[in-house]
Amino acid sequence: MDDRNIILVGMMATGKSTVGAILAEELDYELVDLDAVITGREGRSIADIFAEGGEQAFRSIESAVLQEMLQGERKVISTGGGAVLAPGNAEVMLEHGFVVALTASEDTIIERVSGDENRPLLAGNAANRVRSIMEQRREAYRFAHCTVDTTELNVAEVSQYILLRYRA
Ligand code: S3P
Repeated sequence: MDDRNIILVGMMATGKSTVGAILAEELDYELVDLDAVITGREGRSIADIFAEGGEQAFRSIESAVLQEMLQGERKVISTGGGAVLAPGNAEVMLEHGFVVALTASEDTIIERVSGDENRPLLAGNAANRVRSIMEQRREAYRFAHCTVDTTELNVAEVSQYILLRYRA
């Protein structure tokens, strides 16, 4: 039996948290939502961490929590969209599990994040911010073992596809 962790990476609003919850339930694995672990431990929101220490402070907490959470087996780990950015994080994810990148078209992401107040990187003109972040991260998610474009799929379809690939 395959006990490898499943690690979900990808741009904001590609469904990592929702799909992660479905996979964890199906597999009876522990669900780890990295952003939730960070805010729980810090006792403050992601927006507050960014406001008080800047993006760098958030990234170093994120990398430390990621490395800790990757230890062990039988976990589904949903990461924040920028968890792939710090040097070394991609390698450590590949070492500790099956890495799945979720993608979606730019328009889909813009539509999904509209009205969202909880993502500090999208403050201001969210559509422009999404476009520029997607451009900056064009290559950032390519390291994954498998990639799923969620644009035309619902969360159940995405989860089933991941399970097929994981068990293959
Ligand atoms: C971020 C994505 C967010 C969160 C933080 C930064 C990013 O998570 O970690 O706001 O850099 O893409 P989601 O991908 O779950 O929105």
